Amino acid sequence: MRTPVKNPPVPVYAEFETHRTMIRDRVRTEAFRRALEAAVQPGDVVLDVGAGSGILSLLAARAGAARVYAVEQTSIARLAEDLAAANGLGEIVEVIQGDIIEVDLPEQVDVIVSEWLGGFGIDEGMLVPVLVARDRWLRPGGIMIPALVSAWTALVWDAYLCESLESLRGRPYGLDLGDLYEKTVNEIFYSGPGRHLSESDLRSTPAELWVTNPARISLDEATAPHSAEVRLTARAGVANALGLWFSAELVDGTTLSNAPGDPPTHWGMTTAPLRESLRLDPGSIVRARVTSTPARQIGTWTSWGLELPEGTWEEHDEQAVWREIDD
Ligand SMILES: C[S@@+](CC[C@H](N)C(=O)[O-])C[C@H]1O[C@@H](n2cnc3c(N)ncnc32)[C@H](O)[C@@H]1O
Repeated sequence: MRTPVKNPPVPVYAEFETHRTMIRDRVRTEAFRRALEAAVQPGDVVLDVGAGSGILSLLAARAGAARVYAVEQTSIARLAEDLAAANGLGEIVEVIQGDIIEVDLPEQVDVIVSEWLGGFGIDEGMLVPVLVARDRWLRPGGIMIPALVSAWTALVWDAYLCESLESLRGRPYGLDLGDLYEKTVNEIFYSGPGRHLSESDLRSTPAELWVTNPARISLDEATAPHSAEVRLTARAGVANALGLWFSAELVDGTTLSNAPGDPPTHWGMTTAPLRESLRLDPGSIVRARVTSTPARQIGTWTSWGLELPEGTWEEHDEQAVWREIDD
């Protein structure tokens, strides 16, 4: 078994704005609230991995937990402590600032909740510490929230990506910015909150890439590249990216998804750009490949490819671009 690597805290997670953004995302936070209310039994002990502002810990306490261990790596842990006290839950929620990989708890827990999701699930790169917590602290038969997470892809038209790429073409300011164009089409494009794809932006049938079961997946599987090749049935129109999203079953019957057409979330839209827009032949089959590789120290590297109508493959690789820069 590979040894889990301790990651340094990500500075952006110490900022209030990051946590305001996640709390303001009612689609996300309400889904976790419903899941906690369904899963937590009176008297349960809950572990919140990566507690941030402590919002999920507070909801777990309100759902009836006897104790909640809120483990958070960054200094935002102080806010979690203050919010627990302000809500009269300071006796139930114990905030521990530290890396969950190193933290010791006094007991096993009944439920582990963690919002470890990136734009298409595992790309946040936070699954490994959650699994370490599972293996150390979840009692046999205990509950993991989320329970199942699938990654999805489809051909899409992403107008915001199109604008970004157009701004680099045709010698803006009289300068050749082609190198940045090439880097942009080799990097996963995260729109951030406030932008989303609608159903009408889909340019193919969606296909499931892989499913993660946090109760069952081994650390070896989680640290290995996740890879899938899918066949997408094209719709009429022009595509400029592969859309990437997740659908999660938080607990039985409580779902959360950021698919095109779903209510917008703070994840916004995540797309894997194509080099040039592609006019599609409706009903034709387009093969696509996506690989997501856990990165050291933080996050994941994604590579993707698409079979073009003439039969050649267009390939994109984030890590190759950064290797070039780091060398
Ligand atoms: C996506 S945020 C979720 C915050 C909060 N649970 C919520 O739902 O609003 C993930 C949090 O996990 C924390 N985190 C990531 N890896 C961690 C680790 N190994 N140990 C403890 N905290 C970690 C980050 O600092 C961040 O605050």
